[in-house]
Amino acid sequence: MKPARKSKTIFSIGGGKGGVGKSIFSVALGAVLADEGRKVALVDLDLGTANLHTYLGITRKTPAIADFILRKVDSLEDILLETSRKNLMVISGAGFAPGMANPAHWMKLKIMRHIKSLPADFIVIDLGAGVHFNTLDFFGVSDTGIIMTAPEPGAVMNAYGFVKGALFRRLRSVFGKHPLIGPVIDSGAKNTGEEEKFTLEWLAGQVREKAPDMLPLIEEMGREFRPALIINRVPEGQKHLLVKNFISLCVKKLGVHIEHMGNLPDVPVITHCLLNIPGFLYSRHGRPYLDAVRMIAGRLAAPAAAAAKTDFTDEEVEEIIRFMDGLDSSVFSGTNRDTWRLRMYFKPSEVVDFLMKRGVTHEAFHRR
Ligand SMILES: Nc1ncnc2c1ncn2[C@@H]1O[C@H](COP(=O)(O)OP(=O)(O)OP(=O)(O)O)[C@@H](O)[C@H]1O
Ligand SMILES: [Mg+2]
Repeated sequence: MKPARKSKTIFSIGGGKGGVGKSIFSVALGAVLADEGRKVALVDLDLGTANLHTYLGITRKTPAIADFILRKVDSLEDILLETSRKNLMVISGAGFAPGMANPAHWMKLKIMRHIKSLPADFIVIDLGAGVHFNTLDFFGVSDTGIIMTAPEPGAVMNAYGFVKGALFRRLRSVFGKHPLIGPVIDSGAKNTGEEEKFTLEWLAGQVREKAPDMLPLIEEMGREFRPALIINRVPEGQKHLLVKNFISLCVKKLGVHIEHMGNLPDVPVITHCLLNIPGFLYSRHGRPYLDAVRMIAGRLAAPAAAAAKTDFTDEEVEEIIRFMDGLDSSVFSGTNRDTWRLRMYFKPSEVVDFLMKRGVTHEAFHRR
């Protein structure tokens, strides 16, 4: 099996607080990218309280992700629905029964794998509110994680909690099983309040002492973990001190650099258009919101295009495949730096899936 080449870009939209405008923005971002002639798949992973389908005006009963989880369909591609906009497709999250909103870990990996192989140039994942592990893991699977918040203290604090949760989850998913670094990350995660000392720099210091050969990987991950920030419902002309504070808090307390991609205007009339967001966007009333989304989409797509250029070459892919072929079941318990590097570049779900397909059944896979 060849690991999939990165020929598409995955965005995920999260942010901790409910009702800050994640789903409307997901639809708008998808519509704007689709307008440019790119194939876009929206994926509703707000399992339990999904509403992308309603925002897209889909009121009839359609196949949805619940059918995939219940194995009524084999592939997520089978339930990709057309929408009223050309090039814009959606996977509906409707129809969840209580208890299904929390899929088992292996199912989560399967969902992630299927999302990555959807036939689209851009995939936009709409996440639910909160900092549940599932939400953070789905956030971590994307190429660009987008944090959405409103310019108000509660929402901004939730956004900070979300960034922190996503960082720890990402660090754990790669290095959690490392015998020396795993315990350091866990001890950092337990720190709360004033004496909070966990930053990426602090972690790098610990790694320098305990496992110096791993330091470049930790530094690389620090550079890569750069969530994008979008502020919704910004009153015209408002100077958002809160946003500046949020960005510096993330640097100071976590060592994480956030990229502010732009603001969306407050357009109260949106409330009357919730059954047809694309219709709203392309109406006279939707113009200010649409213009802002177009600007943000341009900024979001630019680093993605640049990253695609420096993607693995065919020779590198062949080399990695040869390396992966040579791995045995002790893969996650050793301290070989290359192994951990592999975990970083090929997200853990891909590595685990690859190894399991080859009959490796290391217990570490099941404990994560
Ligand atoms: N730019 C905006 N201007 C005015 N109202 C807005 C704007 N964006 C969102 N809203 C309002 O906020 C409500 C919630 O929006 P949306 O469903 O996109 O939020 P959400 O973050 O996805 O919520 P949840 O966390 O529940 O999934 C909408 O019903 C709409 O009334
Ligand atoms: Mg939503």
